[in-house]
Amino acid sequence: EVIGVLGFPFSKGQTYDGTEQAPHYLRDAGIIKNLQAQGNTVVDHGDVNLESLPVDEPNTDIRNPKSVGTANKKLSDAISRILKTNQSVLTLGGDHSMAIGSIHGHAQVEPNLVVVWVDAHADINTPLTSISRNIHGMPLAFLAKELQEYMPDMPEFDWCKPCISVRDIVYIGLRDVDPSEKVFIEKFGILAHYMEDVEKYGVKELIERSLSQIDPSGTRPIHVSFDVDGMDPALTPATGTPVPGGLSLKDCCYLAEEIAITGRLSVLDIAEVNPLLSSEEDRNLTMTNTVNVTTKFYGNRRKSITPPDYELP
Ligand code: ARG
Ligand code: MN
Ligand code: MN
Ligand code: MN
Repeated sequence: EVIGVLGFPFSKGQTYDGTEQAPHYLRDAGIIKNLQAQGNTVVDHGDVNLESLPVDEPNTDIRNPKSVGTANKKLSDAISRILKTNQSVLTLGGDHSMAIGSIHGHAQVEPNLVVVWVDAHADINTPLTSISRNIHGMPLAFLAKELQEYMPDMPEFDWCKPCISVRDIVYIGLRDVDPSEKVFIEKFGILAHYMEDVEKYGVKELIERSLSQIDPSGTRPIHVSFDVDGMDPALTPATGTPVPGGLSLKDCCYLAEEIAITGRLSVLDIAEVNPLLSSEEDRNLTMTNTVNVTTKFYGNRRKSITPPDYELP
């Protein structure tokens, strides 16, 4: 199984500069070398080529609709193209608006996918319910069919036809959900596991439950959208909207190991790493923890793996 790595140097889905530099920092932190060292074949497709638009007037008060729409269209096309060559895709974001293009592109090739959304946030605001007006808090509203009757017309996203159902989503790690989002989750019965559920059931049972709830048959391709703010900010401080009380490193490693064991991980997004928002020390810590967890999604194990080409002296 070949992993195609694709950078998405983008930050216009929220207000801080910096997430556009995450692909560079993650590569520098050895994300590709680590995946190769554990025996994976990796093809680095570089970064999606994004030009910045000189003017981007807000639409219904939403920030940078044109930039987010245009960039995500490119991401969607690139992901479809790579998946069609039989590679799985690891996308290095980029703010979490990237999930619009990433999941859309994935669904063009694998319409039967399920989404595991690891995040402190539900990211299912619509342009009308969002308080922040940042699109990184809205990607699932663009993607889920059932949400379309709540969506205003956004010509910048005409290309993005809703391609998943709310029933295809499972959340893990939630702890900062807006009232409007809570109403959507309840109204549609979206599978949502909050931090208190992680506490209550423990990570083992919670992951088992999540995977069997979302796909009892255990056959569907998996899209993991991993917002690093799902992890506790003590582990990933370099991020724009940190929320205390998050997933531990052990929780995330277990989740990633279990996903790897399914053999059905098709696309993994790493979102919201912002190398410019912290001290150098905290930035390095964020990179180390993010790379560590990422490798676990692709077969690295805490119990260690048999090295692919080690010979005893
Ligand atoms: N719910 C808040 C909003 O709508 C925060 C979203 C944070 N999203 C993220 N991808 N970090 O703006
Ligand atoms: Mn460099
Ligand atoms: Mn988040
Ligand atoms: Mn998010």
